[in-house]
Amino acid sequence: MATSGRERLGELAIMIRPNTSILPANASDKHANSADDRPDAGGFLPGVGLLALDRQYAVLREEIRAALDRVCDSGRFVLGPDVADLEVELARSLGVPHVISCASGSDALLLALMALDIQPGDEVILPSYTFFATASAVTRLGAVPIFADIDPVTYLVDPVDVERKISKRTKAIMPVHLFGRTADMDALLPIAKAAGLPIVEDAAQSILSTWHGRCSGSLGDVGCFSFYPTKNLGGIGDGGFLTTTRDDIAQSLKLLRVHGMEPRYYHQVVGINSRLDSIQAAVLRVKLPHLDAWTTARQSNAARYMELFSHYDLEEHVVVPGEEPRGRHVWNQFVIRVAGGRRDALRAHLAACKVGTEIYYPVPLHMQQCFASLGWQKGDLPETERAAEETLALPIFPELEPAEQRTVVGRIAEFFNVPQVRQPGGAAKQADTAQPMDAPHFLRRMKAVGRADDVRC
Ligand SMILES: Cc1ncc(COP(=O)(O)O)c(C=O)c1O
Repeated sequence: MATSGRERLGELAIMIRPNTSILPANASDKHANSADDRPDAGGFLPGVGLLALDRQYAVLREEIRAALDRVCDSGRFVLGPDVADLEVELARSLGVPHVISCASGSDALLLALMALDIQPGDEVILPSYTFFATASAVTRLGAVPIFADIDPVTYLVDPVDVERKISKRTKAIMPVHLFGRTADMDALLPIAKAAGLPIVEDAAQSILSTWHGRCSGSLGDVGCFSFYPTKNLGGIGDGGFLTTTRDDIAQSLKLLRVHGMEPRYYHQVVGINSRLDSIQAAVLRVKLPHLDAWTTARQSNAARYMELFSHYDLEEHVVVPGEEPRGRHVWNQFVIRVAGGRRDALRAHLAACKVGTEIYYPVPLHMQQCFASLGWQKGDLPETERAAEETLALPIFPELEPAEQRTVVGRIAEFFNVPQVRQPGGAAKQADTAQPMDAPHFLRRMKAVGRADDVRC
């Protein structure tokens, strides 16, 4: 039986005490030491971007340009050898027998449901707290999205609510491995098996994440991934792919992505046009060998945020995300929860300090205008609605510098007017706090379970 996320929220509750100084430690790193980028008197950098794709390009520029030249010289722009090679390389990296590329993550979701023969009127259970494409794939086939609530600690779909919402019309379950963390497959797989339902994993944000050593995308019947530029493995435009361990589904997907055509101009079924172009594949092949190192950098950045947050008395105001003990969390996003209805004010403060943030997602899908006819009401999915009001994503990209992270956390502490109670290294700052602080719950938990990122796909 799955445990309720609400019970576990207490594990991460964070508290606060009043304040004095708010000084991030020595700020000077590689991308933050030009004349314009020097820290101010308070130790803050003049700004931190939510993303900095240019830093990745600066390192790979020559290789990427050579790859683009190679494709242009070849005249093979759609599918072709680079796409085939990318599929083989991805299959090896993820440890899955079949990788089928396509034109976007959104198309991957649609193709997965088409391969499972989802029909008008069928029901598909998915979280409401996800990107729109998870649900639109369902409605584009005339099927009905049935939204399940989330676990308030992980923000991932709540298996208890999924089980509760299975009906005679349910034809598939679509967990989303949101923010880089695999959904609770220990609970979901038996639920799906007992009900005889396939699982479509929306793994758009979680390439290389694992669950007990197996890659997301290889746990259910089909996995759907995105190469959107902000993803952990991003192209220079749109792209996506599917994974499956099932030969029958792989065959269907290969047919469906090319208008159901095989051989040429003979159409066995009605598919769609969703082919990956060779330019994307060539660029992605340059990037793929770096993905593991970039993922490790994201994990280090997440650990550094956890450490930095523990230097401040922010527990009453901010809930910091935790590691996943059962698998590898790949940190596509580092999302904090802001208590007391102050998320938007904090975001405005950070924007004024030129610190980039984003809200994923401000309006849950069951409250979207285009789904009004489905009849969902405010209050139907309380944890989803609360997350939409309280969460805020901070910069977490691999090239992020420690000084930039110190600025982000220092600016948050500044907004809440709380002191730095610990120095880097862990000693409590006696002058700033009346009572020494225990390690926050999330750090204690991390120590107990250890780092769970040792598994490679
Ligand atoms: C969870 C999720 N599902 C699906 C998608 C759709 O991917 P794409 O933008 O490549 O269509 C995205 C990416 O934006 C996503 O984050």
